[in-house]
Formats: sequence, C-alpha cells, structure tokens
Amino acid sequence: MRVVVLGTAAGGGLPQWNCACELCERCREGDPAVLPRLQDCVALTATGRDWYLLNASPDLRAQIVATPELTPGPGRRETPVRGVLLTDAELDHTLGLTLLREGELTVWASEPVLAAAAVRPILSYYQDWSWLPADSAFTLDDGRLECAVFPLSGKRPRYAREAAESNDWVVAYRITDVATGGSLVYAPCLAGWAPGFDEFTAGASCALIDGTFHAADEMSSSTGRADQRVMGHLPIVESLPLLTGSSTKWFYTHLNNTNPVAARGSAERDRVEAAGAAIAEDGTRIDL
Ligand code: MLT
Ligand code: MN
Ligand code: ZN
Repeated sequence: MRVVVLGTAAGGGLPQWNCACELCERCREGDPAVLPRLQDCVALTATGRDWYLLNASPDLRAQIVATPELTPGPGRRETPVRGVLLTDAELDHTLGLTLLREGELTVWASEPVLAAAAVRPILSYYQDWSWLPADSAFTLDDGRLECAVFPLSGKRPRYAREAAESNDWVVAYRITDVATGGSLVYAPCLAGWAPGFDEFTAGASCALIDGTFHAADEMSSSTGRADQRVMGHLPIVESLPLLTGSSTKWFYTHLNNTNPVAARGSAERDRVEAAGAAIAEDGTRIDL
C-alpha cells in the first residue's frame, strides 16, 4: 500500500486566510522553518491504479493537481480516484467532495455522518454517488484493502448540533493491505484516548493521529477562545506519552496554525521527535 499525505493542517490551513498569529506571519514571510500546510487529507492505493481518499479537504483541487499519482487519463475523463472515507462531517473534511462533483465516487462514512453531511443534499443535484455506511468493517479495491472502523466520539459539527447523539460522529480507520500485511491507522480527530483505541492501533505499521494542538491552552492564549479540549482534540502533550514503546511509526497531522510543532527547530517539535514520533508533512509518501 502506498500512502500519500496530501495535507497536514487543521481547518484553515497554514497560513490561515484571516490569521496574523506568529506562525501564520512567519509562513507568509517565507520562513523556511514554517512551510505552508494544506488541510488534512490522505490518498492511498494498493496497486497504484485505484486510489482512495481519507477525508476530502477544501484544498483538494490543489492537492490532486500537485500529486502525479492522481493525474487523470488515459481517457479524457478517467481519474484514478475511486472513493472517499470520511472520519467525520466537519467542513474541513467534507467540503472537498463538492470539488469532485463531476466524478463517479463511493463515499463511506458512519451513519450519523451520512445522515447529516451538509454537502450531501447539494451533491445530489450533480451526481448519484454511492454513500455507504462505515460502521464496522468493509473492503476496498476488490478486497485488496481491508478497512476496520473505530468509533471515537460524539463530537458533532456546529451545523449539526441539533442532530441525535451517537458515539460514531467521529471515527478512526485502520486500513490493511491484504498482500503486504502493512496497515495504516488514520485518526485526525481524537477527543481523548478512548478505551479500546490501544487495541485498535496495536501492531499497525503506521498511524496518522490528531496533532491539532500541542498544549491544552494554546488556542486560548493565542486567540482568547475556548480550551481546545472542548473542541474535541487531545493535545500532543497528553497523547505523546501514550505512543512510546510501540513498534508503530506515529505521525501527528491536522496541525492547527497555532501549534508550535509546525515550526522546524521548535523546542516542542524537538521533544516530539526525541520521543520517536514524527510531524507529518504535506507530500509525505509512506509504503506499507
Ligand atoms: C475541528 O477539527 O475541530 C473542526 O474542523 C472545527 C471546525 O471546522 O469548525
Ligand atoms: Mn478539523
Ligand atoms: Zn495563525
């Protein structure tokens, strides 16, 4: 299985259009330590022919254009993109579907996400896509990739706050290449380290997990807004001690623009790397 990390930022990207925080400013000024980051999205394939996206970011057009593996052809309207797996219904993970509206796709998501996704009624005017439940396990690419689903939390998008409670508004995926045995866990929105998540990730070759915030007060000290734990993101300082001692290669992704680990050479990033984890970069390719 080949995994291409198309984007590593939380909603808004880096720099964010309306933000003048230190990292956004350094990024705009071209500081080589603070490279631009597009919004969180991943592409993967078992064979190189058929590709599946994990989430559909609002930056998806630029991400596809920048990724040679996703080039259309040889037919005029032939694309290697076959489907999209959604971890949740947040706008930064679903708006990219509107950019794919000319294509034929299958979208997998949990039941509450399928029912609520704000883009779905809009897309129904353009394409008759298959929207399939991702509630336990299923396969992709004629059985070449096995996909297990782990319900993570009941965090609903703001636009769906009237919708019914459920513990699979946010899920993680574990995708295993049947031929190589390599496996990827994808969990960009971890409200906490849920019971059973250790077992779900055990033995995975690689895991891309929630690195939105480094510390619990980062957002409030920078913007005056609420503690990010109520935003459903476990800070890195709390997840990092839970990763050590495992054979899995851990990457943090979905970095908010306030997160000091987005800057190369920061003390916070050095500590993450010293603990054996890595910060995912846009364009990272991983073979599993
Ligand atoms: C999140 O990651 O918490 C969401 O993307 C927040 C949002 O889009 O408002
Ligand atoms: Mn987000
Ligand atoms: Zn910023």
